[in-house]
Amino acid sequence: MKSLEVLTRNGKATKNIGFLLAGEILKEKKAKHALVISLEGELGSGKTTFTQGFARGLGIKERIQSPTFVILKIYKINKKSNFKNFIHVDAYRLKSKDFKTFGWKSFMKTQNNITLVEWGNKIKNILPKGSLRIIFKHIGHHQRRLIKIFS
Ligand SMILES: Nc1ncnc2c1ncn2[C@@H]1O[C@H](COP(=O)(O)OP(=O)(O)O)[C@@H](O)[C@H]1O
Ligand SMILES: [Mg+2]
Repeated sequence: MKSLEVLTRNGKATKNIGFLLAGEILKEKKAKHALVISLEGELGSGKTTFTQGFARGLGIKERIQSPTFVILKIYKINKKSNFKNFIHVDAYRLKSKDFKTFGWKSFMKTQNNITLVEWGNKIKNILPKGSLRIIFKHIGHHQRRLIKIFS
């Protein structure tokens, strides 16, 4: 397992890391399964901020907010690549069984989806084995956050 650690000093820097990761992912060839990214870390640690930069890196112009009252939101990826849809999930209030009522498995098999799950640790057992994990931590009392990316 490879891992990378980045320390950011404000929200803008965290957005930038998201933006850069999206650009790297778009360069990749088609995956066998959907590409799934699990974001983990306490409230306010920067998961949604990261997601905003990530979506921007996929060419998505709409403002990204946590899909608190719906299970997920689907956006069209507007940059040329093998990927077509970006799916944003926030599992904060959810359990794995909440995902049984619709075609979650087929979402996970659709090769041209990129799915990002905030609080992915809460539904770990329904995420594909090869999911990318990104862990967010507050460092000190100010704006510093540690971002650890595992692949
Ligand atoms: N280095 C940083 N990285 C990310 N967010 C930061 C940072 N410093 C301050 N912030 C602020 O902290 C808050 C993080 O909130 P959010 O991204 O919604 O967290 P989460 O989705 O993990 O609950 C935002 O208001 C953001 O502006
Ligand atoms: Mg959030």
